Amino acid sequence: MLMMPEVLLIGGGMIVHDQILPSIYQLQRLGRIGAITVCDASYDAVRRLADAELPRQAFPGQSFRMYPEAPGPRRPELYREIIGRMPARQIVFVAVPDQFHYEVIMEALRQDQHVCTVKPLVLQHRQAVEIAAESRRRGLFVGIEYHKRFDDRSLMARRAYRAGRFGEFRLGTCCLLEKWHYRRSNFQNWMTTENSDAFTYVGCHYVDLVHFITGLLPVAVSVYGIRDRYPNGNEGFLWTDARVIWNNGACLNVQNALGYPDAGPGGNTQGLTMYCQGAEDGALISHSDQYRGLKYSYVNPTSYAEPSPDYFQYVDPGGPGLTPVGYGYRSIEGLVNAAIAVERGERTLAEIDTAGVLATPANSAYNEQVIEAARESILNGGREVRIAGAAAERM
Ligand SMILES: NC(=O)c1ccc[n+]([C@@H]2O[C@H](COP(=O)([O-])OP(=O)(O)OC[C@H]3O[C@@H](n4cnc5c(N)ncnc54)[C@H](O)[C@@H]3O)[C@@H](O)[C@H]2O)c1
Repeated sequence: MLMMPEVLLIGGGMIVHDQILPSIYQLQRLGRIGAITVCDASYDAVRRLADAELPRQAFPGQSFRMYPEAPGPRRPELYREIIGRMPARQIVFVAVPDQFHYEVIMEALRQDQHVCTVKPLVLQHRQAVEIAAESRRRGLFVGIEYHKRFDDRSLMARRAYRAGRFGEFRLGTCCLLEKWHYRRSNFQNWMTTENSDAFTYVGCHYVDLVHFITGLLPVAVSVYGIRDRYPNGNEGFLWTDARVIWNNGACLNVQNALGYPDAGPGGNTQGLTMYCQGAEDGALISHSDQYRGLKYSYVNPTSYAEPSPDYFQYVDPGGPGLTPVGYGYRSIEGLVNAAIAVERGERTLAEIDTAGVLATPANSAYNEQVIEAARESILNGGREVRIAGAAAERM
């Protein structure tokens, strides 16, 4: 790898606009990475991204090469050719819909590229195992972007839990409901009953976080889903209620939806409460992940908001442009730094897997086991599905 790796983003939709591209631009500004390319199947998508106002305002003078270069029919296979044009051992960042992650990641690995991907890594556990093996065989880093791990409150809870300060997790409840208007986005074309559901799409964040904090592993999952219609008539499980049982017998309830009111404050509603038990008393972890202490009432336009200063914001510490801050940025920085460190021989894949702060196919494949079990459960009316091979410690 050159001193500054090239980064190719595959997929140029919402998450790339909101978090990934600005974070990658910031790393370019800091001299950590070189040229940036974005390849989407759709010319309109890359055009929209290139024209988007905020990234342009935040990063004056910076730009990316875009593919397709001209309007035309969708080109879902174009990314293979674009990866093929890169020198070996650069970084491919995967941000296509969930059900395409596997083929895009495997193609990038076959073409000798380090990989960062949005969550979930893949939808099947055996695919995660295959990716882990290919990554090890080629000495290439693969990291999954679970940004809640980079929220300081998650790192605080993890450290205190692992030091024994909360005792043992027993019962938990968490939710992440995206706003109603998500139904009108491109999601209606792919987050449909046959591919995904509200739990698979966003529930995985808190399942991952409970493991991240406690080190426990999931052993059984049941997901009740309500079938609902998107504006284009496609059917999705847009409301879900899941129960995840852990290998110490603990139980986590997870509620997800594309249904939080558009007029509600904040970009969504979300939070995690974990009730734990010590020798003589109960213990509690309670995170409001939506309300972070800010109450804004605007006049232009008249509205009330509770913005999160913690996930991702552009701030102006004196220019040039604007600087992205928050755990959304730090998560991407952590992944890109790891890929660079592996390439330079400064960190090993085994050491990153063991540290467990960055999610890798080897250390977070329980997420795929949960997704697989969840999909089976939701398609069977919410019956409990046990995770094959899950090691129960004390059930
Ligand atoms: N909180 C999070 O971590 C978070 C949030 C949002 C999305 N995501 C994940 O990011 C991924 C994308 O989500 P999004 O919200 O940006 O969706 P989106 O629908 O807005 O964008 C997806 C883009 O991928 C493109 N695409 C599809 N197939 C392609 C192909 N073969 N080659 C190149 N481009 C292709 C589409 O044209 C579209 O522009 C999903 O896996 C989603 O789960 C994660």
